[in-house]
Amino acid sequence: MQTFLNIFLGFFIFESVGSAPITDNIIFDSEFYDIPLGELPHLFVYDENEQSDQLKTETGIALPSRSQESFSSAPLSEEFEEEASTPKLIDSPSAQGSGVLGPQTQDGLPTCLLCTCLGTTVYCDDHELHAIPPLPKKTTYFYSRYNRIRKINRNDFANLNNLKRIDLTANFISEIHEDAFWRLPQLQELVLCDNRIRKLPELPSTLTFIDVSKNRLGHKGIRNEAFKDLHELQHLYITDNNLDHIPLPLPESLQALHLQNNNIQEMYEDTFCKMKDFTYVRRALEDIRLDGNPINLSRTPYAYMCLPRLPVGNLI
Ligand SMILES: *[C@@H]1O[C@H](CO)[C@@H](O)[C@H](O)[C@H]1NC(C)=O
Repeated sequence: MQTFLNIFLGFFIFESVGSAPITDNIIFDSEFYDIPLGELPHLFVYDENEQSDQLKTETGIALPSRSQESFSSAPLSEEFEEEASTPKLIDSPSAQGSGVLGPQTQDGLPTCLLCTCLGTTVYCDDHELHAIPPLPKKTTYFYSRYNRIRKINRNDFANLNNLKRIDLTANFISEIHEDAFWRLPQLQELVLCDNRIRKLPELPSTLTFIDVSKNRLGHKGIRNEAFKDLHELQHLYITDNNLDHIPLPLPESLQALHLQNNNIQEMYEDTFCKMKDFTYVRRALEDIRLDGNPINLSRTPYAYMCLPRLPVGNLI
């Protein structure tokens, strides 16, 4: 097995030397090779027998046809709701062949050698990435914080039907394709804090948590009724942007709305409540933050009648 692994990894090194320089943070020391394959924490295990769909990257570079993008059919825990729980490493006798480490990235390295794959979670934090790496088809949680990604392309997340969370905090993202997210049928959490985003793309209605704080969203950054049909949305964080209005309408499910440090100057009596229906109560929305905006909340005393709590903000 070890000999096989040495040859196998050697092949990738050989390939990557030919195509791109190996980045500093990948250490190819002999200790690494000596670990039996089944114990390698970086491994995402693929089922060799599964047919691979030919995956093409946005730049049109075809991946090797033998690259596998599906996970092993070996029993694996799909549920990683608690991040604190110890993830199960996948150990499978089918951990041989070309697709073991996930789809090939543009650097010529498989995603799960470049990043860390545990169960169906892919961790790519702090790897100097310039683009979203091709992800294994069953990826559920994807973390790529503290990288140098500038753009999210139309097909970066295409066909990832199990994807529940995307966290791209602290990158240089300024451009997101309009269709990049809305076709993801299970996406619940979208975290795009600390980027350079000027415009939000179309969002899937399954989202429960959106954080686009610390970006450059201004007057036209959020299109009309962007959150209207997000009937599961509970947390909406858009702090530290340049918004000049509260994005309306807000779904009934919303529990927390954080809009600190924007440029919101006005609010209306019916922003949260219904002026024609004084019996209406917006019970879920308990946490509204408007501090750090040039708005005087005292001017609209009737705007909070239906809320369980007053918004936080300037009252004088
Ligand atoms: C805020 O609004 C209240 C009520 O209209 C008003 O009395 C107060 O002077 C306003 N404060 C400022 C700083 O404009």
